Amino acid sequence: MSGLRGIRTIEQIDLADRRLFLRLDLNVPTKSGQITDDTRIRAALPTIKYALAKGAKIILASHMGRPKKPEDRSKYSLLPVGQRLSELLGVEVLLFEEPTGDGIKGLISDLGPKKILLLENTRFADGEEKNSMEMASHYASFTDVYIDDAFGAIHRAHCTVAALPSLIRERGIGFLIKKEVEMLDRLLHKTEHPFVAILGGSKVSDKIGVIDNLMERVDTFIIGGAMAYTFLAAQKFETGSSLVEKDKLTLAADLLERFKNRKKNLILPVDHVIADGLKENASTSVTPTQAIPVGKMGLDIGPKTIELINDCLKSAKTVFWNGPLGAFETKPFEKGTFAIALGLAELKAMTIVGGGDSVTAIEAAGVADRMGHISTGGGASLEYLEGKALPGLEVLREKSGKA
Ligand code: 3PG
Repeated sequence: MSGLRGIRTIEQIDLADRRLFLRLDLNVPTKSGQITDDTRIRAALPTIKYALAKGAKIILASHMGRPKKPEDRSKYSLLPVGQRLSELLGVEVLLFEEPTGDGIKGLISDLGPKKILLLENTRFADGEEKNSMEMASHYASFTDVYIDDAFGAIHRAHCTVAALPSLIRERGIGFLIKKEVEMLDRLLHKTEHPFVAILGGSKVSDKIGVIDNLMERVDTFIIGGAMAYTFLAAQKFETGSSLVEKDKLTLAADLLERFKNRKKNLILPVDHVIADGLKENASTSVTPTQAIPVGKMGLDIGPKTIELINDCLKSAKTVFWNGPLGAFETKPFEKGTFAIALGLAELKAMTIVGGGDSVTAIEAAGVADRMGHISTGGGASLEYLEGKALPGLEVLREKSGKA
């Protein structure tokens, strides 16, 4: 079964001289107005280049950050994104600041192979997150073809992801969404075993859906990061002052029981790097066992755990990784996460890394180009793997199931 059944791709739609509303996820990190990682912009290029080559009049749209008040406008403007796009594409990218106003129509006739339009942050308008039909009708009034390539936002029922495409007959997905969904479908439907899932990050609750949906498919679950301390606490180990979700202890105990009943291998840290607290260059020690002394905080997996995980990975045929295994953004707690990233890079297995922090870690470890697939959508890839219906995909599915 394919998650793309009934959904057309950009290649199946005539674009010549048509006004193309291309929804992207250009939500990139910035510091003082400078883009610090342009991965999402580069990931959008194949679809934009294809549309340019086919003679479309391109109107790009994306959200950026989570602006809450008018003062957030300069911080979350797409201006630097437009500049970067222009450099990468070698075309003029005109930033249109008032996408909800009528002035846009006059500009569209000038668009072509040398000039594209970028609408300012869709979330500056109230109607975006409200999935407003009124705003969607406005966008629809200057759209002939709608293409979604914003994989990272596909789980959001927002106006430019859900309401707008519901009004456009000629609609489909771009190359990025196609690739992302096909890769995730491989995990779900064409799994080669042993299948190992490495789950880290701080919250058990964020991962429960994906654990549920992958339970039957995964052979070994490796749990690290702060969420491991909740599992250890549920097994009555001392966890010192480590981050433990006290209200999730029953949930963790229930999951432990299910791993056991389904005869799943479970690897939890067997030693930890500990310190008095999370502080740059803190003085650290390694626990000899799974227990963490009172007053100390677990902040990374220890050397025995690294060895255990990398040994287990050696025989894996499929690996999915989501969430760092320690507080990798603060030195010296990056070692565990980086060691696993390097271990993954050596494998012949199909390696798929979910978005967000694990991708940052993979980039920082310098092994991004040695992964099978790195998703551009953290939340979106998790929700897809949880088996949830994603608004941005469902709206594009033709009911006949053909296409
Ligand atoms: C992301 O960064 O995961 C996507 O751009 C979605 O952003 P959001 O979580 O603010 O909707």
